[in-house]
Amino acid sequence: MIAMAPDPLFLATAIEAVVRAGDLQMAHFGQTIEVSKKGRIDLVTEVDVAVERTFRAMVAERFADHDVLAEEFGTTRDFAPARRRWIFDPLDGTTNYAHGLPIFCSSLALEIDGRLEVAAVYDPWRRELFTAERGGGAFLNGQPLRVSEVPTLLDALLVTGFPYNVHETAVPVVGLFGEFIARAQAVRRLGSAALDLCYVGAGRMDGFWEERLKPWDVAAGALIVQEAGGQITAIDGTAFDVRKASLIASNGRIHQEMLWTVEEYKGRSRNGTD
Ligand code: IPD
Ligand code: CA
Ligand code: CA
Repeated sequence: MIAMAPDPLFLATAIEAVVRAGDLQMAHFGQTIEVSKKGRIDLVTEVDVAVERTFRAMVAERFADHDVLAEEFGTTRDFAPARRRWIFDPLDGTTNYAHGLPIFCSSLALEIDGRLEVAAVYDPWRRELFTAERGGGAFLNGQPLRVSEVPTLLDALLVTGFPYNVHETAVPVVGLFGEFIARAQAVRRLGSAALDLCYVGAGRMDGFWEERLKPWDVAAGALIVQEAGGQITAIDGTAFDVRKASLIASNGRIHQEMLWTVEEYKGRSRNGTD
């Protein structure tokens, strides 16, 4: 079967949407904004909501039959498969944003018949636009991206994130973090999973792991990693699925070592030897 390239209008729309999102984010960044809590430490700002509203209006106007799965208003048709679905995080890195720390972005992917086909992530502070189309490569501001060639975990710079239920799950989350610290060259926690994945694609980071992410955190970044020559799997080594979202992404070379690290740590925790 011949795979059809996605309509070029889709990538153009994705880019327009994330750049518009970035303009809105920058217009309010560092100012006093309304912040509320979705959970004990899970923030939402008026900017998250405004960006998502603008995006939904754009899709409704251009592609009335497309579905949207986004963070703040969920999805009209729940998580059921749709022919074409935009998966959108209006502001990834909300905690950073609310504190005036310039590490945030918006992240958008288009899923066609259950497959991620188009991705765009925009960091408006650094004016960095990451894009990918399935089979067409990944790019940063139009320049091709390639994952790093770091061959071992010992030489690797890793990045991770902590879920919003970390107050209840601190022991295993920190335990696994400690395991990676003991095996890698260094580990970072930046606060934006979408950018973490883009940085793996760009070769700035060699590997990323995180548990309990949501589809909008990872959809775009996952395609960018794959198209930059990297590897992405569920955290247990099974096939990546945007809805499983406990995952490992890497340059491919250190992937097995990352999987072993998780397996060994979880095995010890299960046996009560950790
Ligand atoms: C969060 C960020 C963070 C990750 C969290 C996500 P948000 O998304 O991506 O890096 O550790 O798990 O929920 O709430 O800023 O959109
Ligand atoms: Ca997010
Ligand atoms: Ca968000």
